[in-house]
Amino acid sequence: METPQILYLSRADIERVALDMATIIRLLENAFREKGAGRIEMPPKPGIHTQPDAFIHAMPAFIPAMRSAGIKWVSGYPANQRRGLPYITGLLILNDVETGIPYAVMDCSWITAYRTAAATALAARYLGRPNSEIAGVLACGVQGRTNLEALEVIFPIRRAYAYDTTREVQERFVEEMSARLGIEIIGVDDPRKAVVDSDLVVTSGPILKHPAPTIQESWLKPGGFGSAVDFDSYWQPAAMAQMDKISTDDHTQFQYYRSAGYFQLTPDPYADLGEIVSGKKPGREREDERTLAINLGLALDDMAVAPEIYQRAKERGLGTWLPL
Ligand SMILES: NC(=O)c1ccc[n+]([C@@H]2O[C@H](COP(=O)([O-])OP(=O)(O)OC[C@H]3O[C@@H](n4cnc5c(N)ncnc54)[C@H](O)[C@@H]3O)[C@@H](O)[C@H]2O)c1
Repeated sequence: METPQILYLSRADIERVALDMATIIRLLENAFREKGAGRIEMPPKPGIHTQPDAFIHAMPAFIPAMRSAGIKWVSGYPANQRRGLPYITGLLILNDVETGIPYAVMDCSWITAYRTAAATALAARYLGRPNSEIAGVLACGVQGRTNLEALEVIFPIRRAYAYDTTREVQERFVEEMSARLGIEIIGVDDPRKAVVDSDLVVTSGPILKHPAPTIQESWLKPGGFGSAVDFDSYWQPAAMAQMDKISTDDHTQFQYYRSAGYFQLTPDPYADLGEIVSGKKPGREREDERTLAINLGLALDDMAVAPEIYQRAKERGLGTWLPL
């Protein structure tokens, strides 16, 4: 019997593939359309927790239309920043849909950074104003960067405000992202300044079970869109209560997180991204609506993107083949 071969892709291999953000957004849109039609399999993610506010999650999903099946085993450790280590690390395994045999193992930090941002941009396409041109980024880490990059693919962004509690991180963001995207980026020393003039606001700080949120009622202007990448850690309950529409990416996972102690003061989302993309629920309906996307991050996102990375890596001879 032939020994099955697995393609191992390191973070560096995946960076060399450099899948572009527009493609990632398109893949996610296709996957969410399938989800809206009830054609995917994705059990809620179980996890283990070896440190406070840290997690290691198992995230399996099957998207039949994309012939994609697999699992992500991802950890998030907030204290790693102090150790000079990445916050998010982990591995992703792809399985053949006919035989179940694993055919790829890859780093999952790149995919996590990019697919999460693409989910923000996808939600913003349906819930933001199409002419949005000012963005606010609160927390200028990995997600702050990729989220701004993804929004810039969809919207005619001409200016962004950037706020981070660590001054050097904020300064590096301003310098590097303005060069990368060719837009004006202004570093601000007060989180309010990153919100009040912005059409699109991304918060991407640490997710905390017992947050002391910063963004107050009416900071987000009418017509504004927010993406709470860090769950309910940045938006005060009164600011969330003021939203005309709050969406999520999956109702079951939202309720699971609620039962685990998050989102205690967050209103129930009116729709998930699958329902919105497939037209079952409306997106933005009025110019002056305030909207907030709370995407929890789904295995669906990862499995929408990973096979494309595998294909392109294989075509280019990247990665290392290993026997199973
Ligand atoms: N929803 C999802 O799908 C999803 C996916 C991946 C990551 N996340 C979450 O996104 C968040 C950011 O992840 P990352 O990989 O960018 O981490 P990161 O460590 O690269 O960046 C976090 C940044 O937040 C800054 N910060 C901390 N407290 C702050 C505050 N109060 N205001 C402003 N800045 C603050 C830090 O200085 C750091 O620059 C994490 O909470 C992570 O769990 C969510």
